[in-house]
Amino acid sequence: MRTLNPRLPVGLTRLVWPLATLGLLAMFGAASATAQDHAGQYEQANIEFGARLYGANCVRCHGEGGAEVPGIDLSTGSYARAESDPELMQLIRTGIPGTAMPPNDFSASELTGIVSYLRTMRDFDLSAVTLGDAARGQTLFSGKGACASCHRVRGQGPRTAPDLTAIGATRTAANLKNAMLDPTGSMIAVNRPVRAVLGDGTVINGRRLNEDTYTIQLIDENERLRSFDKADLRELAAVTTSPMPPATDALNEQEIGDVLAYLLTLKGMD
Ligand code: HEC
Ligand code: HEC
Repeated sequence: MRTLNPRLPVGLTRLVWPLATLGLLAMFGAASATAQDHAGQYEQANIEFGARLYGANCVRCHGEGGAEVPGIDLSTGSYARAESDPELMQLIRTGIPGTAMPPNDFSASELTGIVSYLRTMRDFDLSAVTLGDAARGQTLFSGKGACASCHRVRGQGPRTAPDLTAIGATRTAANLKNAMLDPTGSMIAVNRPVRAVLGDGTVINGRRLNEDTYTIQLIDENERLRSFDKADLRELAAVTTSPMPPATDALNEQEIGDVLAYLLTLKGMD
């Protein structure tokens, strides 16, 4: 009996694309409002991340309050040169040629953060920022939080859970916070663990690496690569509860903020 959800992406290349699309949709979906929309639309974790990026990249010209460049008040939340959020992201990415406004090499999650902050900065109190310290977060990730006992980062750690090396570039701050607080509720389809039952009754729990119509490749709990003909399996199912414990089991609120800040620094191998 095969119960695998047929809508799950198959094939490694086909696995990457839906994931990228999903991420982008989630980002633009979360920040696709125009200036007329209100603050409630932007997620707190994204606003906090954006506030931090604003402090590091924009304050020196635009000032804390956003009104230091003559004729421009960023805190109004609406801009002469960019109406929609995608337009505003584009402007921040390319800068304004011929003016002092520089281009910026931000990832999609960083752009979501900055736009979320700009749109709400009038109402947002910088002193309320709770995003923590990335260096402390890194220590907690491999120590008290035990994240490194399941997750791999930059070639270190097991392959039984998703590799987080570039997670800060592909997920927004709000996505990551949800993933930590509510692993099952925020689990995306490609990350669902699978359970396979062989002809002799042996049960294999693992993480799907690749799949086509006739075969499936898994990493099992002992980190071994396993490949099966689906016809030989008695059962194949995607599991809907996450094996990941909620971060609140091991960490307090401030520590979760620290780990979140660390995850946001993970943008790939470089
Ligand atoms: C080196 C100085 C400088 C830095 C750094 C800078 N800006 Fe600007 N920015 C400007 C100037 C000057 C303008 C106005 C350009 C013009 O219209 O002549 C501007 C314009 C803008 C506008 C257009 C406003 C409108 O009404 O159309 C936005 C939005 C903006 N900046 C956002 C940002 C953000 C976000 C950052 C940080 C990631 C940033 N800027 C960093 C100098 C800067
Ligand atoms: C017992 C193993 C285990 C531990 C411990 C664990 N995770 Fe996970 N994590 C997983 C698995 C399996 C998934 C994939 C299923 C899911 O999304 O819940 C996952 C998913 C995630 C995701 C979502 C990845 C994505 O592609 O969106 C993030 C972020 C994450 N974990 C971060 C953490 C952090 C931070 C910690 C430590 C506080 C941690 N995990 C601890 C097993 C674990």
